[in-house]
Amino acid sequence: MKFLRLLLVLVTFPIFAQQGGMWIPSMLKGMNESEMQSLGMKMTAEDIYDVNKSSLKDAIVHFDGGCTAEVISPKGLLLTNHHCGYGEIQSHSTVEHDYLQDGFWAKDMASELPNPGMVVTFIVSIHDVTNTVLEGVASLNTEADKQKRIQENINRVQTTFPKETWQENKIKTFYEGNQYILFVTETYKDIRLVGAPPSSIGKFGSDTDNWVWPRHTGDFSMFRIYAGKDNKPAEYSKDNVPYTPKHFLPVSLDGISEGDFTMVFGFPGRTQEYLPSFAVEQIVNTLNPAKIEIRDNALKVQDGFMRKDQAIKIQYASKYASVANYWKKWIGESQGLKKSNAIQLKKDFEAEFQKRIAQKGKSAEYGNILADFEKNYKAINEYTLARDYFIEVVLRNTELLSVGFKLYQLEQVYKTKGEQAFDDRKTNTINSLQGFYKDFNVNVDEKVFEKLITLYGQKSPLIPEEFKTMNYEKTTADIYKSSKLTSYEGVKSLFKGDAAANFKALNKDKGYVLVKKLAENYFNNIAPTYDRINLEIGALQRNYMKAQLDLFPDGRFFPDANSTLRITYGQVKGYSPNDAVYYQPVTHLEGVMEKYIPGDYEFDVPSKLLDLIKNKDYGQYAENGKMPVCFIATNHTTGGNSGSPAIDAHGNLIGLNFDRVWEGTMSDIHYDPEICRNIMVDIRYVLFVIDKYADASHLIDEMKLVHPKK
Ligand code: ARG
Ligand code: ASP
Repeated sequence: MKFLRLLLVLVTFPIFAQQGGMWIPSMLKGMNESEMQSLGMKMTAEDIYDVNKSSLKDAIVHFDGGCTAEVISPKGLLLTNHHCGYGEIQSHSTVEHDYLQDGFWAKDMASELPNPGMVVTFIVSIHDVTNTVLEGVASLNTEADKQKRIQENINRVQTTFPKETWQENKIKTFYEGNQYILFVTETYKDIRLVGAPPSSIGKFGSDTDNWVWPRHTGDFSMFRIYAGKDNKPAEYSKDNVPYTPKHFLPVSLDGISEGDFTMVFGFPGRTQEYLPSFAVEQIVNTLNPAKIEIRDNALKVQDGFMRKDQAIKIQYASKYASVANYWKKWIGESQGLKKSNAIQLKKDFEAEFQKRIAQKGKSAEYGNILADFEKNYKAINEYTLARDYFIEVVLRNTELLSVGFKLYQLEQVYKTKGEQAFDDRKTNTINSLQGFYKDFNVNVDEKVFEKLITLYGQKSPLIPEEFKTMNYEKTTADIYKSSKLTSYEGVKSLFKGDAAANFKALNKDKGYVLVKKLAENYFNNIAPTYDRINLEIGALQRNYMKAQLDLFPDGRFFPDANSTLRITYGQVKGYSPNDAVYYQPVTHLEGVMEKYIPGDYEFDVPSKLLDLIKNKDYGQYAENGKMPVCFIATNHTTGGNSGSPAIDAHGNLIGLNFDRVWEGTMSDIHYDPEICRNIMVDIRYVLFVIDKYADASHLIDEMKLVHPKK
């Protein structure tokens, strides 16, 4: 194994990480398979993906389009993260039955809770359709025409590619438009909640511990897939039956040790590993700092209110967590990019790239790529920044403005599509706001508004003159005194009568008038230029990717994540975040006790767990008298991999992926095997909680427990 690694180091340019990557499961034969086996895997590529017989991939689902989940019993039992099932757990909760606080365990199948609208998707087969999608494209002249033709081809192939009636075809682009792959999928629509630990286990450490190692969170929840009597997808019905999977993952009781092979199978959302240095500079120096500052301001205001008022705490908990999640990630990402010298490494690579173009006589094809990148990133800088300000301030973090924007879109429907289209959409939009206002507090939002509109006016490029000099305090007070957008009743009162009356009333509302000015400024003065340059950057990125594949035939290129099924693999491994500091790869329940703060909303521990710890009542799940909780490895994961199974050398479940370590969050842009680690819950902790904490051993009985090391 050492030898093979050495060989790889010798033949590849140092910029290419010797580990990492998110690979397409149907294309592992060759380099990946031998690398995985050299790391300790005992399976073949066909055990992971096979079209003709069942394989590991048949146990993996895309969980409601966001996270990943896996089938772990012959009766369609699904495992995913607590933070992935959070919305469903919350939706079944009431003051009397607060499942977020207390957990939920269905005592039998009849007690499992349906979740209307929720789906999981299996990948049936994977096909390279690049040639068909690119038919007739090369001869077209403009980028816009090319994209149009590609879209037409995609639509045609998606409708004509052979599939069963209950299946779907979906084409996605890989390597920035250099490869197109079709997925035949099967989507199940009756998904029921089976169990969830209390947040004090499933979300232990909450925002303070988020993106941090050492970690002690039991971030899991359980669902079940139900199917029609023919085992095919069916709408919810109480007559549906538990789904019989083509494959389910056996669960290993033998645990992990440093150096063990692990792989993570799931649906990573988005990475940008092949950006030029100019783009990374823009992220580190301009975009991340602006977005972090905006969220920092919004979060501080919300936190101030949440700490003083329990009702606001409940209203804003979920929103706060989601805004804080990426705020914290961007901070870690910027630090990591700087510390790992990512920009300089990219520049070194670009120098080598330029040299090889000359050596191989490819100047005509690739000679201008980098210079064109530089020019375009300069030209787009202000527009990207202005766009981010608009997204973060108007669409994401000021609630009155984001409601206003929805109403602005409604007015556009009226203006462009007429009264009928408006009427069709109006009821939906207004109804959807009811739930929104349940968790809205006008005093919180007024303070957020004042902070963010000030930042916006003072710092965003490309905004109307009047916003630069306005009295922000007075504007805020004026708007929150009179605007109807501050309550659900207020919004409804604007939409009485016919469309003409609605928009007359709306256009007198001071809050609406302000949103509309910002939206029009965005659509007239920012979006058109942004879109035009961005299209050019997309074309350059495609050619740059092609050039890299061409000029570095020995390179280790994997396609950027795009919410399709991928495999990433590595080994259980600690890391050294700073001089003289080394982090072990496994945490234990002892660490929960070290962090325990009675009554604290992040670090409280439920009393039953305290008892189990005191009595060391760990059943068959402990190792040398200690209960493992989480572990880390060198798998290259990203958002969307949450809920993904961690799988051992033989194909057994050993853990559940849910996060990455702070020092390695830059892995979406620059993967560094020295410090990038994914964080998983040890499956033995999951089993312990189900069995000993929740007394739900009937769920354990459904699973297939194995001892691969004995
Ligand atoms: N950072 C993880 C991910 O990006 C976990 C997020 C959920 N946990 C939280 N405390 N907000 O999704
Ligand atoms: N926590 C992320 C998720 O929800 C995973 C990650 O970004 O590492 O998918």
